[in-house]
Amino acid sequence: MTKKLMLILLSILLLPLSSLVMAEKTDPRNMVEMPAKMQQHFLSNMRRHLISLDAIIAALADEDFEKAADIADNQLGMGKRHQCDDDGHKNQHKGVDHKSMTKGLGKDPKNKGFGKMMPPEMKAMGMQLHHAASDFAAVARKGDQQESLKALQKVSTTCVACHQTFRVR
Ligand code: HEC
Repeated sequence: MTKKLMLILLSILLLPLSSLVMAEKTDPRNMVEMPAKMQQHFLSNMRRHLISLDAIIAALADEDFEKAADIADNQLGMGKRHQCDDDGHKNQHKGVDHKSMTKGLGKDPKNKGFGKMMPPEMKAMGMQLHHAASDFAAVARKGDQQESLKALQKVSTTCVACHQTFRVR
């Protein structure tokens, strides 16, 4: 094989690789594919996370620790982890708002928990959020604003970590 031919072959072989590397450079996040309906459900769940965070900060500013803890527990805490599980409600426990969670989602398998579309690393990050939120609730109930803020920042860190690693579109 001539040197020229070798070079041409080599560049053809490397071409898709270089565009991959370029795509990586522009957006380092891993793409997580999911059906459109589930993606909508996932993103609206995300927007609710931000609403919850906002409400927690407001409650902390008012020194209403009980309220801040309740929001964290009920909206972001371990009781909410089933949304990240493989099956939207398989791991439900009594007392968690099962009805509101599955309301309107029907039996469409596309609407099952988006957990089954998530790579294990992403699921683990989701679990870190639920853990951090439950930890925050416990700290907040002790009524120390400084400590509560520290614990809340551990919650927002889990949001940031996942956002830097994954995307769905
Ligand atoms: C397990 C991973 C993960 C965690 C944890 C997480 N997010 Fe997200 N979030 C995502 C992904 C992925 C997207 C979609 C990003 C994209 O594709 O543009 C997203 C999108 C969003 C959006 C945009 C929604 C829209 O309609 O475009 C908001 C707001 C958001 N997240 C808030 C939060 C907040 C607040 C927290 C923490 C309390 C949080 N997220 C925790 C993965 C996560």
